[in-house]
Amino acid sequence: MRTENDCERLIVNGGEPLVGSVIVHGAKNAVLPMLAASVLTDEPVTVTDCPDITDVTDMAGVLSALGCRVEREGRNITVCGCCRSSEIPLALAKAIRSSVFMLGPLVSRTGEARMHAPGGCRIGARPLDIHLGGLAALGAEVSFDGDCVVCRADKLRGADIVLRYPSVGATENLVMAAVCAQGTTRIIGAAREPEIVSLVNLLRKMGAAVRGEGTPLITVEGVSGLQGAVCAPVPDRIAAGTVMAAVAVCGGRVELSGANADHLGAVISPFLGAHTFLVEHSGVLIFESDGMLSPTDIVTGPYPLFPTDMQAPFMACQCYASGMCSMRETVFEDRFAHITELRKMGAEIAVAGCTAYIDGSKGMHGAEVAASDLRGGAGLTVAALGAKGESVISGLRYIDRGYERIEELFSSLGGRVRRVRRDR
Ligand code: UD1
Repeated sequence: MRTENDCERLIVNGGEPLVGSVIVHGAKNAVLPMLAASVLTDEPVTVTDCPDITDVTDMAGVLSALGCRVEREGRNITVCGCCRSSEIPLALAKAIRSSVFMLGPLVSRTGEARMHAPGGCRIGARPLDIHLGGLAALGAEVSFDGDCVVCRADKLRGADIVLRYPSVGATENLVMAAVCAQGTTRIIGAAREPEIVSLVNLLRKMGAAVRGEGTPLITVEGVSGLQGAVCAPVPDRIAAGTVMAAVAVCGGRVELSGANADHLGAVISPFLGAHTFLVEHSGVLIFESDGMLSPTDIVTGPYPLFPTDMQAPFMACQCYASGMCSMRETVFEDRFAHITELRKMGAEIAVAGCTAYIDGSKGMHGAEVAASDLRGGAGLTVAALGAKGESVISGLRYIDRGYERIEELFSSLGGRVRRVRRDR
């Protein structure tokens, strides 16, 4: 399906230092499951500080299609009204992978959830076995009708569920399925991301009994029903990290207000060196760099390790480092699509299995490049901000999924970035 932003390009003229301040809003990856949780009650649930990005709009579309009333007022999204349908429409399931979060809450609330194979960024096979195995353990009958997953249960029952990998989405799905199940659920080997803590904060305000979020063991005591609530998501650590990556490449000084340094540990440490400086002052993170980057070796992993979502933005930094760097991707098996595009900008990158070796000493120049996934697109934007000359970036539909008007974000800091429309 062709969308409005398929006709748009970012024009980036690199080489300007980035100076100024940025407000870090709620994390996409927290807002999406929090919105999904709203179907667990008929009462209004408000998620505050939501980013204005297409993934959030699409999630609101999923909820509307299920029969919920969705109202947006500024950055607050309120969802109310019970679901009249248990089927996530094909087009929306294809548009947004996070529709998979709806399986747990929907089956819990309506006794049935039907969903076509979900879409999202093409960064690996992205199977659903951990989600579906966990729902089956809670008593759901899982079947397939063509490419549609169907989950049915008159009443979910608490169980011990051991996750073979700490999947973020499966942990969220199963917590949401378990909050109104009969009895106790223990999710063993749960993911620990701050966005899961955000979701549990909301569920607790709605009356759920959950403990252990942020640790590998989450325990949920099922309750008979939930009520409405208002809750804020955690700030977007990946958006904050992307701005830091751009400042590290271009040099400059940026004040990130609203960012939570505690969530950024693994992201911040590779930036720190003789040429960068970071302080936290009254809730504002001040990040300063002279644009000189030391070589680094990074391995991505589940939180609290280096986030896979920062892999591409940070690889853009490694293209400017003063020597050989490496980046090993362990979370998704096919998340290197940006490398072909970075090479068009002059990057010297060799790939062996899931490790990229980047020779940062070669210098980068502007080029015509295409984003083919969200974070890869952010990485290309960071690389273009540091490159000599003009870059033209297409594939903005991916970048717009997770960054709010990325051109305004960077031009407000002095970067020369604009969005132009190209004839169809
Ligand atoms: C979430 C984030 C995404 C981030 C990812 C890892 C949201 C909306 N998205 O995605 O930005 O990159 O966490 O931090 O929060 N897997 C299976 N079977 C499953 C589920 C997952 O094999 O049933 C695999 C995946 O293919 C992947 C790994 O587990 O290789 C991690 O995936 P997961 O943590 O589930 O990522 P998402 O929740 O999809």
